[in-house]
Amino acid sequence: MDNTQKGKLTSGNNNSYWLDSIPAISFDPLNENKSTDVVIVGGGISGVTTAYCLLKSGKKVILVEDGNIGSGESGRTTAHLVSALDDRYYELERIYGEKDARLIAQSHKSAIDFIEQTVLKLNIECDFERLSGYLFLHPSDDRNSLFKELEAAKKAGIDVEEVPYLPGSKEQIPALKFAGQAQFHPLKYLKGLCDAIIDMGGQIFTSTHADKISHEGIETDKGFKVEAKHLVVATNSPVNNRFVIHLKQYPYRTYVIAAKIKKGSVPKALWWDTGDFTQNKEIAPYHYVRTQRLDDTHDLLICGGEDHPTGIAEQAKINEEDRYSLLEYWLKKYFTVEDIVYQWSGQVLEPMDSIAYIGKNPVDKNNVYIATGDSGNGMTHGTIAGILISDLINGKENDWEKIYSPSRFKIFSAGKTFFKELAGGTLAYLKNKSHDSKPVEVGTIMVNEGKIIEVEGEKFAAYRDVNGQLHIIEAECSHLKCIIKWNNDEKSWDCPCHGSRYTHEGKVLNGPANKDLKYYSNNK
Ligand SMILES: Cc1cc2nc3c(=O)[nH]c(=O)nc-3n(C[C@H](O)[C@H](O)[C@H](O)COP(=O)(O)OP(=O)(O)OC[C@H]3O[C@@H](n4cnc5c(N)ncnc54)[C@H](O)[C@@H]3O)c2cc1C
Ligand code: FES
Repeated sequence: MDNTQKGKLTSGNNNSYWLDSIPAISFDPLNENKSTDVVIVGGGISGVTTAYCLLKSGKKVILVEDGNIGSGESGRTTAHLVSALDDRYYELERIYGEKDARLIAQSHKSAIDFIEQTVLKLNIECDFERLSGYLFLHPSDDRNSLFKELEAAKKAGIDVEEVPYLPGSKEQIPALKFAGQAQFHPLKYLKGLCDAIIDMGGQIFTSTHADKISHEGIETDKGFKVEAKHLVVATNSPVNNRFVIHLKQYPYRTYVIAAKIKKGSVPKALWWDTGDFTQNKEIAPYHYVRTQRLDDTHDLLICGGEDHPTGIAEQAKINEEDRYSLLEYWLKKYFTVEDIVYQWSGQVLEPMDSIAYIGKNPVDKNNVYIATGDSGNGMTHGTIAGILISDLINGKENDWEKIYSPSRFKIFSAGKTFFKELAGGTLAYLKNKSHDSKPVEVGTIMVNEGKIIEVEGEKFAAYRDVNGQLHIIEAECSHLKCIIKWNNDEKSWDCPCHGSRYTHEGKVLNGPANKDLKYYSNNK
């Protein structure tokens, strides 16, 4: 697999600071049949937190992960821990009503409290710290959106106030200050949870791909089975759900740079803007910033944003690899930084109605659970998943069950955004498809280029690596057969339809696909 750096499996070619700063979290692969109370597929924050909560409640748990722990999006995050959510509270109030908006706010506050208490209880050294978060106006937005958010967030029970300046920034912009937010090093936290899972008798198997998944358990690609009374699919995009969920959420690529700053030159805080409405009026892509301790003299200022729907970056005429310079430009407008020392990207799943889908898998047996639709709040959503799914499996009532139910149907209240995104995505895909379908000569594919070729009426995806070798795979995504698109930044083939991604050798990096694409050749 090409997508490894320093021996660490990850869902892209660029390594994040988190992956780079601690040893890989790996365990032995599964090599025999087993049975248990609960089998969990996926070793990101959702799967690992669920395993931890279930073990605490007395259940027997086995977790399988096809890479290392955190080799999915949990290793590529920026790990802001916020109750001040990505989607505005005035939107949540419109979709869910005042009472449920309060419940949503309370669930994210509880998730941050849970992480804080767990860090203290298990003595996890993961740089966890409480701090304030600042939401400030993007130049394309109207100041009224800050006022609306202030009122709605207060009604939802959030500790928020308006401040006339943005701490740490060169620009003096009015902002909303949210107290009681937090940040941490996500992989150090997951390592601490894994240690506790093993101490409590849980079993974790990495480099273990769940190939067949049913309500009776899983079978790995090596043919080993885990039978279980309950199954939790925490694969970020649920690989066991073919249609229902993937019509209710959209995959977006999001980009991150980390710049060195002199220690103490910027106060510890979280910052994010209200989003660029010139790019997308419905889901305005926003920028997000935090600090992270680096060494004795420097910290990192980590900045994310420049999102676009997966597989159609060039719709906005900006390729994937060109997004980092836009981030740098934006960051330098607001903050004084030194060298950029990391850049990476990742994927988020935007639910049509703003919050995650956590609970029983729709149209399935009652013992199958999923956690998905994380949006940019997957650290808290993943923690909520751990608490909620553990309660559901233990038959314990939980007030969050209804709002997070994957079967909920908010199409009419979420309506406008939903149709715009779905229609926009489909149209962009179709436009792209006809363009990509034009057969190109293999000989015209340059080093570091990936293109769709046609041989005897059949499409293939061809990539020429830095050594001039050509790698050819099937071009139809193994989920629902859309044509994949080359992402030259992460050196992956990305599917514009529902966000599945593959290496140049056809290995699945992101679901919903769970089957590799056939790899044909590596001849020149
Ligand atoms: C750049 C970026 C910035 C972000 N910033 C924030 C932020 O500041 N705050 C926040 O709250 N959220 C943020 N998020 C979102 C958050 O990081 C994610 O939502 C969260 O990490 C998802 O966790 P997960 O456990 O659901 O999925 P993942 O971490 O992706 O874990 C799923 C795991 O399942 C494994 N898997 C898949 N298929 C199989 C299979 N068949 N068998 C075995 N294993 C399998 C994968 O290898 C993967 O490790 C950000 C995301 C990105 C990409
Ligand atoms: S992800 Fe659904 S068709 Fe590719």
